[in-house]
Amino acid sequence: MATFSEADRLLPTLDRHWYVDPAIFAAEQERIFARRWILAGRGSDVPAPGDYVTVEIAGESVIVMRTADGGLSAMLNICRHRGARILLEERGSCGRTIRCPYHAWSYSPDGELVGAPNLRDWVGDSRHELSLQRLSVRERYGCVWVNLDPGAASSEDDVEVQIAARLGAADRIDAWELDRLRTGRSIVYEIAANWKLIVENFMECYHCTTIHPELVAVIPEFRSGIASQAGGSGYGSAIGDKVDGFTVDGRAGLEPLPLVPEDDRRRYFGMTIVPGAFINLLGDHVIVHRLIPKAVDHTTLVCEWLFPPETLDSGADIEPTVELFDRVNQQDFDACERCQLGAASRAYAHENVLVPLEHHLLGFYDQVRAAVEA
Ligand code: FES
Repeated sequence: MATFSEADRLLPTLDRHWYVDPAIFAAEQERIFARRWILAGRGSDVPAPGDYVTVEIAGESVIVMRTADGGLSAMLNICRHRGARILLEERGSCGRTIRCPYHAWSYSPDGELVGAPNLRDWVGDSRHELSLQRLSVRERYGCVWVNLDPGAASSEDDVEVQIAARLGAADRIDAWELDRLRTGRSIVYEIAANWKLIVENFMECYHCTTIHPELVAVIPEFRSGIASQAGGSGYGSAIGDKVDGFTVDGRAGLEPLPLVPEDDRRRYFGMTIVPGAFINLLGDHVIVHRLIPKAVDHTTLVCEWLFPPETLDSGADIEPTVELFDRVNQQDFDACERCQLGAASRAYAHENVLVPLEHHLLGFYDQVRAAVEA
């Protein structure tokens, strides 16, 4: 029988400073979240012209608004007069103008200055240079992606490349028709843990047998500890032969998504879109996670369960489907919070270790280190 040294198979994690040092957190916000494409919600959050949401990206408040031509605009939520935050609600509708409540400067839905009390002539000359600071925005897969960096690579070179690497081809995801799916349930989780712990946890399944009894009952191969996204490009984890559906008790799920190939309908494809999104593809629904790092030890996570309109309109019971991953989320985030407590301990002086089933996390560590230490 072949033998190997266990020491050779245990690789170091990031050291504790990456999870507890506010200076590193600030650098990550500046060099990762302010430079990469960030999932900011669903296009259906802003269905009509003038509808908006405000979202936090890299500590900035960002307005995402539907424009008259059906497109999207994204702007910093900061008035160009004296810098007041303009919109305070999480969502709403502005109609034709965004109006600052302080001195009533007003802007068009794409951010151009269109009015300032007592300064009519002057506005005509200055409206371009005093527009709200516009950001790159793209609607793809029914999702809104925003980038704060004007010099960033395109979303095709970032988001699509990651999807292609995970699924084997970027267009494979099109079978799930994410742009036509609707949100059936949305849950916000407040997690007392660093955002990287949440990403790491999502990427590995070494913990699955221990903390996810419902999940391993539905996907028995997870008992091996091999995560869906550790199985190789294009790999989807199989739902058990004796299980009817991806539900909390394994009962039958919902009507299958019509374009998903037969071979993929009983598989689970989990994928991480670094830095802050997870997409989970199932045969009858899709789950999307969106991370919002708030502090070195606090992350807000929005999880949405997406279904085809015909499923929601039929009155089908989505609860057994939602409950499975809601339980998984809570189990995961409890574990992440325990890791955060450990990282804060003096005893965690240096790094911990990754077992072989977790070695693929090194690629994530490398991305974070390269960005922060560049
Ligand atoms: Fe907005 Fe003055 S700060 S109009």
